[in-house]
Amino acid sequence: MTTSEGGSERAETLVRALGVLGGQAFASLGLDPSLGEFRRSDRPDLADFQCNGAMTAARAAKRSPRDIAGEVVEILRRDPMVADAEIAGPGFINVRVSSAALSHRARRIFEDPRAGAESVSRSRRVVIDFGGPNVAKPLHVGHLRSTIIGDSLQRLFRFMGDDVTSDVHLGDWGLQMGLLITEVEDERPDLPYFDAAFSGPFPSDSPVSMDDLERLYPQASARSKADGSRRDRARRATAELQAGRAGYRALWRHFVETTQTGLEREFRALGVSFDLWKGESDADPLIPEIVADLKARGLAELDDGAWIIPVARDTDKKAVPPFMLVNSEGASGYHATDLGTVLDRKRTLDPELSLYVVDQRQALHFEQVFRASAAAGYAAESALEHIGFGTMNGPDGKPFKTREGGVLKLHDLIEQAKAAARARLIEAGLAEGVSSEEREAIATRVAIAAIKFADLSNVRTTNYIFDLDRFTSFEGRTGPYLLYQCVRMKSLARRASEEGAAPGSIIVELPAERDLVLALDSFADALSAAYERRMPHILCEHAYALAQAFSGFYAAAPVLAETDEARRRSRLALTLATLRQLELVLGLIGVEAPERM
Ligand code: ARG
Repeated sequence: MTTSEGGSERAETLVRALGVLGGQAFASLGLDPSLGEFRRSDRPDLADFQCNGAMTAARAAKRSPRDIAGEVVEILRRDPMVADAEIAGPGFINVRVSSAALSHRARRIFEDPRAGAESVSRSRRVVIDFGGPNVAKPLHVGHLRSTIIGDSLQRLFRFMGDDVTSDVHLGDWGLQMGLLITEVEDERPDLPYFDAAFSGPFPSDSPVSMDDLERLYPQASARSKADGSRRDRARRATAELQAGRAGYRALWRHFVETTQTGLEREFRALGVSFDLWKGESDADPLIPEIVADLKARGLAELDDGAWIIPVARDTDKKAVPPFMLVNSEGASGYHATDLGTVLDRKRTLDPELSLYVVDQRQALHFEQVFRASAAAGYAAESALEHIGFGTMNGPDGKPFKTREGGVLKLHDLIEQAKAAARARLIEAGLAEGVSSEEREAIATRVAIAAIKFADLSNVRTTNYIFDLDRFTSFEGRTGPYLLYQCVRMKSLARRASEEGAAPGSIIVELPAERDLVLALDSFADALSAAYERRMPHILCEHAYALAQAFSGFYAAAPVLAETDEARRRSRLALTLATLRQLELVLGLIGVEAPERM
């Protein structure tokens, strides 16, 4: 697989080298060389790689596919890279690569600090908009998934060589602000923020804590639902805030800063960071200019007192309502702030690609925003991508809530996972001989690995069920299993250096060694597939396949106990190459293995 836009620094993988050979073989028969492409075999018991080109060639050349395959096989067999080539079924070409080719490739991966990965040849400026928490409103599972998936993508895109700017895009500008302002006013009318005549200076310390915000918002929201006039007050306060009323702005700053401090702590616990902590409010100053511009260019239309941009297309399969620039009350909302943000980013970052990692349920919103941005000329539509995802559900099949039925708190979630991880460590007899601090640190890493791997290993667009018990198991397709394999490699590497054993030239002999090298070799393709499709589960699959191949190797081939020196050194090198690659992939999904456990 190639990477797009300017191609990539292509790794010399076995599958690609075979493709070149295959291409030459087809060309020498007067056929299209692209028919010679290979892929990993569906039947690893029969072959390493397979090529289906003879079937396609047969149709064009009006010959039997087996005849063509036979001739290609003859040519392939002459190459030292090929141990065995044969025709299977109606004309598939099956190849086993030679030990020499595997050994050569393994040595290259061992020497490569990127463990066989490739990178893009031209770095792009990429914005990743993820996290998307809201001021005062608690985080929910949608934010958690956005954070985990977005962080993996930011790590992957950076690793591939792009110039990534991540932005948390705080929801800091909606009605919830007016709700909070008026709620604080009702509780503390004495504070200076509510005196319209007073213009400051306002106190520099926040009158509200994170706990206050968490209490005040649900309270305000419930009251406004029950009472229309309460809601109208909140609406007016929101409008006045947006219009710049000094006391409201000062109070709002406190809300934003208090929330941000709390969020930074939660995200840090997850090992996630953002380059920018911008928010919807940062787009607000651009909106009057945008409105004037779009009116002047005839792009915005007046509709029942509102300014809209029609974005429906004849080809639409379902209705796409107009983009709402200014509503009939003269206010701008979620559409407008996203459009303003596109323009802000164009001016400040000039991204070539923007990824919006947001719940699938906002697909229509982004469709409208992207079309409006393209119409306005702020971004090419192809440069804006909604990276949607499904929900994380509880055992009842509904979006996951905490045990109390409340909203998710990242901190509580991590604590729950840590408790499960501690129990699992005891059950597995792990992390026994270490200090209690170290055991705690190990439990934390196991917990984070469990949560992230469980989330990322699903195809991101599907829903999945939160099941801590399964996620924290050291067996099966889990984060803890991967950590465990990684720690085994680390302790082997540590023992080797204690014993003064050094890695040497890799010579692939055993079937389990072949399997391991084939797994190592597929890293480049897994990376480019994950990168192209913005699909972290492909990284998870690779990590799991690699760990399993290592497990097979470790069971079949003694490393330090091997008495033949060359063999011992070869196997040690293979272990170190695998360790490096596994740590790299785990790093791309935001997971870090402890030194021991
Ligand atoms: N704050 C929004 C929410 O909670 C998510 C923001 C997503 N990003 C964006 N540019 N709209 O739903």
